[in-house]
Amino acid sequence: MNFVNCYEDFNRANAYATLEFANTYYLAYRDLPAILTEHVSGTRALDFGCGTGRSTRFLRKLGFNVTGVDISEDMLRIARAADPSGDYRLVLGDNLNEFAVGAFDLVLSAFTFDNIPGAMKVRVFCDLRQLLAPNGAIVSVVSSPEIYAHEWASFTTKDFPENAAARSGDVVRIVVTDHQDRRPVEDIVCTDESYREVCREAGLEMIQMFKPLAKGNEPYPWVNETRIAPWVIYVLKRTT
Ligand SMILES: C[S@@+](CC[C@H](N)C(=O)[O-])C[C@H]1O[C@@H](n2cnc3c(N)ncnc32)[C@H](O)[C@@H]1O
Repeated sequence: MNFVNCYEDFNRANAYATLEFANTYYLAYRDLPAILTEHVSGTRALDFGCGTGRSTRFLRKLGFNVTGVDISEDMLRIARAADPSGDYRLVLGDNLNEFAVGAFDLVLSAFTFDNIPGAMKVRVFCDLRQLLAPNGAIVSVVSSPEIYAHEWASFTTKDFPENAAARSGDVVRIVVTDHQDRRPVEDIVCTDESYREVCREAGLEMIQMFKPLAKGNEPYPWVNETRIAPWVIYVLKRTT
């Protein structure tokens, strides 16, 4: 598949950097503190696909000692400027060899796997598993397949009706309405069944899965968020 990472783009990076934790994104982050408290012991964290650093700064505020990595220098440049004392590194061609085996208690990937083609997912999860300490956890926040076929406080997909027929592994399009860049983002849809298969092949056990819904009393203009989960959060541990 000829898939281009749309985050290797100066204008997209600048727009993305303005996103914080409002609207639909609130639901991606709301439950993470409780999930991390329950499943992670230790403070050594890798933020895989840190982007402009939103997820890295989130972990740092929770007390983690975080290294953020990304393949996009455009995104990293902004992350470093926003957080000069943070540790943000460019990884080339998904090469994570600079990190020691077992180096991290937590690997967080927030939305990163939405942009990793199906065939690469197993290999990348295998590499991340190697970096986990024996009782370490991968917490992976991904877009649910439903996000691409509905309207949301932070996103629109109405111009892409073909998304509804997309199968796991297909490219889908979505526009972020929370920032200025209205060019569609191209993601790769991945069903829960496919993620479970990827985890099995990568030697990871799915410990828990969350599909966060809005309660309705939050200060955000929910569209479908009270009844359809836009995100899925997986907690994964090593089977070996
Ligand atoms: C949607 S952004 C999420 C950024 C950040 N985690 C957040 O929550 O704001 C996804 C990021 O993953 C990065 N990415 C995609 N594939 C990657 C890979 N194979 N290795 C590292 N980063 C990757 C992209 O460059 C992009 O910056």
